[in-house]
Amino acid sequence: MALKTIGIIGAGQMGSGIVHVCALAGYDVLIHDVSTERIQSGLATITGNLARQQSKGHITEEARKAALGHIRAAENLDNLADADLVIESATENEQVKRKIFAQVSPLLKPEAMLATNTSSISITRLAASTDRPERFIGIHFMNPVPVMELVELVRGIATGDETFEAAKTFVAKLGKTIAVAEDFPGFMVNRILLPMINEAIYTLYEGVGTVVAIDTAMRLGANHPMGPLQLADFIGLDTCLSIMQVLYEGLADSKYRPCPLLVKYVEAGWLGRKTQRGFYDYRGEKPVPTR
Ligand SMILES: NC(=O)c1ccc[n+]([C@@H]2O[C@H](COP(=O)([O-])OP(=O)(O)OC[C@H]3O[C@@H](n4cnc5c(N)ncnc54)[C@H](O)[C@@H]3O)[C@@H](O)[C@H]2O)c1
Repeated sequence: MALKTIGIIGAGQMGSGIVHVCALAGYDVLIHDVSTERIQSGLATITGNLARQQSKGHITEEARKAALGHIRAAENLDNLADADLVIESATENEQVKRKIFAQVSPLLKPEAMLATNTSSISITRLAASTDRPERFIGIHFMNPVPVMELVELVRGIATGDETFEAAKTFVAKLGKTIAVAEDFPGFMVNRILLPMINEAIYTLYEGVGTVVAIDTAMRLGANHPMGPLQLADFIGLDTCLSIMQVLYEGLADSKYRPCPLLVKYVEAGWLGRKTQRGFYDYRGEKPVPTR
């Protein structure tokens, strides 16, 4: 199954990163979101990030230009009809994703593959909302996509061997390393990472330490490159909450209960870097802790 054209649904921080690495690897890429503004904002991010990579000497000017030449906006879902693989990277909400798959499936070629970049939701359940569960797979990229080397591959119960092999070849062509996970809530990375972040938020909620103290403790005491609250802001607090809810409901264990303080931040619309405020306020020159 030779892949040439890749469609990406969702032009947020992850979707734009996936477009970026696919275009650099030489694929033709179509980028779709709910509005022209969202697509344009994704394109602006990609253009800026490619320029930064070039200025740091990580890619050549020719590679940057060639990558930009591979990317096209897809204003409507019908524009994805030519794609050989469509990767959904919209908001981490099962209803949103199911609706997208129900809408896009009938528009695609019968042989086209479908994938999701979900952080936690069941691949088997999402596959069931398509007309091709055997051609459906979880391709879970890490944030920021151009920098992070890992991709988790997750097979649903119906995912065919041909789809799995094609996904492996695709990820290898992007220069990423694969870790294969079974289809359980949160797969591997987020099953381990998110409870740690949630515990950091409980540690803040219970007054054990301040935002800065907790992040300093984990950076210097556990040698993490970023503190857990800084990382939560980077991931997006809405995404963190959705993942914790999937773990809590899917594994039915109270140890995954989302911290009420995380819920409160999301209810306030303080979603981290993407809204300029989360555990830190990013509107000034330097991030300032909000607690
Ligand atoms: N943030 C991370 O660190 C991270 C890491 C790995 C995977 N993921 C997963 O990637 C996915 C996207 O996360 P993100 O961080 O890019 O979120 P984001 O909020 O930055 O972007 C989500 C995008 O989806 C778009 N969208 C919503 N509904 C849509 C629809 N019906 N059709 C088309 N587009 C729609 C939104 O307009 C938005 O642009 C989620 O499933 C998330 O769990 C996130």
